Amino acid sequence: MNLKIAVLSGDGIGPEVILQAKKALNAIGAVYDHEFIFEDAYIGAIAIEKTGKPLPEQTLNLCRNTDSILFGAIGDPKYDNDPLAKIRPEQGLLKLRKELGLFANIRPIKAYPKLMNASPIKREILKGTDFVIYRELNGGMYFGEKTTNEAGTYASDLCEYNEEEISKITHLAFKAAQSRRKKVTLVDKANVLETSRLWRRVVSEIAVEYPDVDLNFLYVDNAAMQIVLNPSQFDILLTDNLFGDILSDEASVISGSIGLMASASLGEKHSLFEPIHGCYTEAKDKNIANPIAAILSVALLLEHFGLSKESKKVIQAVEKAIISEVVTVDLKVNSQFGTNEVGDFISNYITNEDDLYFK
Ligand code: IPM
Ligand code: MN
Repeated sequence: MNLKIAVLSGDGIGPEVILQAKKALNAIGAVYDHEFIFEDAYIGAIAIEKTGKPLPEQTLNLCRNTDSILFGAIGDPKYDNDPLAKIRPEQGLLKLRKELGLFANIRPIKAYPKLMNASPIKREILKGTDFVIYRELNGGMYFGEKTTNEAGTYASDLCEYNEEEISKITHLAFKAAQSRRKKVTLVDKANVLETSRLWRRVVSEIAVEYPDVDLNFLYVDNAAMQIVLNPSQFDILLTDNLFGDILSDEASVISGSIGLMASASLGEKHSLFEPIHGCYTEAKDKNIANPIAAILSVALLLEHFGLSKESKKVIQAVEKAIISEVVTVDLKVNSQFGTNEVGDFISNYITNEDDLYFK
C-alpha cells in the first residue's frame, strides 16, 4: 500500500514523539512492503510563530489532499497564562477537526498488567479493564456560539447538537461494540440538559437497529465516579464533545500514564491520529517524553486502512517494550529509557523481532 501522510508535529514534545511514530511506520513499511510518504506542516504555537495563524491555509490544504494525518501536540504555556489571547494554538486543532469533518474521536483505554503499579488505582479494580471512548468531536459546547459582553463581566458558550451529529457517531459506536463485548454506555446529563435528552432519544432509536448490542445510560457525574470505581464494566463509552474530553483524561489514569493513550479522529473523508497527551513543554527536548501514545496512534492508523496484521505488529512491539521495561520514566518501573531508546527498541522489534537491549 502507498499512503501519503501529513505530519503535523506541532509543539512541545510533539516533534520528538512523532519522530518515533514515523520510525515505527517506516519499519512496518520495510517489513510489509508499504510506502509511507510523509509531508510536514505547521500547526499550533509554532504555526502562529511562523505564519501568524494556528492553522495556516497551506497546512489545511495539505491535510485535505493526503490519505491521513499524524498529529503530535499543540500548546504553549505562554498562551495558557494569557486567557485573553485572541489567537491560540488550540484553535488550530479545533478548526482542523471542523474543516475536515472529523466527527468521531476514538480513545482506547486499557490496563496493562505490567504497569498496574504506575496507576494510583488498585490492581483488583484495574484488572480486565478494556474499553473505548467514542467522543463526538464536531459539536457541543466546543463549537456553539460564544459571547462575551464588552465589560468582560459576562460570557456564554452555547451547547448545541442536532440529530444527524448524534446519529453519525452513534452508528460507529454500535458497530465497534458488535466486534467487542457488545455493550454501549451513553454518558450524558439527561436529568438537566436538553441536548442530553436529545442524545438519549436518538441513541435509543438507533440501538433498535443493533439488537445484539446492549445499551445503558449513565449520568456524567456518576460515570466519572464509575471510571475509577469499576472501570472493567465498560465496553464502549459514547458521549459528547466536552464530557468525552474530560472523561478521557480521567480514564488515562487507568493505564498508568497519559503517555500511553492513542486516539483516532475520523470523518467521512479524512482521518487523523494523535496521542491524547498535550505538548508537555517542560519535557521538550529532554528525551524523556513517552513515545508510546504516538506509536500506538500509528497502530490505529494502520488498522483504519485495513492493515490489521501490521497494526497488531506495532501493538506487539509496544507490549514487548512494556514487558521488557524499556519504557520512559512516567511508567514508574525500575529501568528508565529515553524517548529515542524506546522508539528504537520498538522499531527494531518490528524489523527484527529481537530485543535491542536485553539479549
Ligand atoms: C484533546 C485536547 C483538545 C480538546 C484541546 C487541545 C483543544 O484536550 O484533544 O483532548 O479539548 O479537545
Ligand atoms: Mn483533552
